[in-house]
Amino acid sequence: MSSSIDNENREPAPERLVSARVVDDDASYELKLRPRRLREFIGQQKVKDNLQVAIEAARSRGEALDHILLYGPPGLGKTTLATIIANEMGAAFQQTSGPTLQIKGDLTAILTNVRDKQVLFIDEVHRLQPALEEILYSALEDYQLDIIIGQGPSARTHTLEVKPFTFIGATTRAGLLSAPLRSRFGIVLRLEFYTGEELRVILERSAEILGVEIDSAGAGEIAARSRGTPRIANRLLRRVRDYAQVRGTGRIDVATARSALEMLEVDQHGFDEVDRRLLLTIIEKYQGGPVGLNTLAAALAEEPEAIEEMYEPFLIQIGFLDRTPRGRMATQLAYEHFGMARPRNQAALF
Ligand SMILES: Nc1ncnc2c1ncn2[C@@H]1O[C@H](COP(=O)(O)OP(=O)(O)OP(=O)(O)O)[C@@H](O)[C@H]1O
Ligand SMILES: [Mg+2]
Repeated sequence: MSSSIDNENREPAPERLVSARVVDDDASYELKLRPRRLREFIGQQKVKDNLQVAIEAARSRGEALDHILLYGPPGLGKTTLATIIANEMGAAFQQTSGPTLQIKGDLTAILTNVRDKQVLFIDEVHRLQPALEEILYSALEDYQLDIIIGQGPSARTHTLEVKPFTFIGATTRAGLLSAPLRSRFGIVLRLEFYTGEELRVILERSAEILGVEIDSAGAGEIAARSRGTPRIANRLLRRVRDYAQVRGTGRIDVATARSALEMLEVDQHGFDEVDRRLLLTIIEKYQGGPVGLNTLAAALAEEPEAIEEMYEPFLIQIGFLDRTPRGRMATQLAYEHFGMARPRNQAALF
């Protein structure tokens, strides 16, 4: 069974300093920096309020917490929240992921072994095989598992009881979840990008854990270039720390942070080459858009999924990109960023 439990191993991600995905040595640091309790978890107030009420209610009834779906862009704290929920419930935590579970036996083994009120966390739940999803349905709904024994006319169905447990699914692509699976979640929570101020507080907390001296303006400077994403903020902090040690006094103030980030070529929005190329392609090759996702992906030699999941959400959030029914469009802000004027007929479309 251990083979079906993964420890956040990911498909190889491009080495991109401002990628929201896990890269290089993120994983070992994240364990250290990951908040353990709800009160240490910064930001996402609506999500926390919802969870607090649900957890307290379930605890006072002595029941398992309702099944929960966590969705939102990578690196915003889905896995962190899943572990916090288990901690707050005082429940055991078990983690696996959609792509790791390949055969029915993997999932039935996990389900028949779940402990009373435990948390079962399935990451990338949108990548669960349809046959496995079906097994999950009755387990989630009635805590029962239908197992077929034998084949052909002599096949019999056995119903096994499953202990009441809490299923937590996480996905970056809620739109890809099947309707029946989605309907099994009693609580659906969407994580948002963090504000600069929230990221600043996260950075100060991380710096303290890592034993790095940082002032509030220095943290603010890193926060502003972190694409609303704690994972990126923590990664930039480690790089700036290196710079401060080698080129400065070890202490991170605003000047150190600025020159470190300049050296690392992280611009004032946390854009990297791909972001710039994406916007410039729309502007220069497609007169600002609208341009369809697949066309855009082909022009950039990127996967449409990568654009949809990793690049676009943040560009839309900060108002540089619009997703219209006819395709992607660069906004006035994007033109301004590159010091360009938007064509007149383009502006009329808004
Ligand atoms: N609210 C927060 N407060 C402090 N640190 C946070 C917060 N959210 C996330 N982090 C930090 O960011 C890291 C990444 O978070 P996490 O792994 O939970 O993201 P995720 O949403 O599961 O990403 P993915 O979609 O790639 O699985 C954590 O290890 C933690 O250090
Ligand atoms: Mg995760």
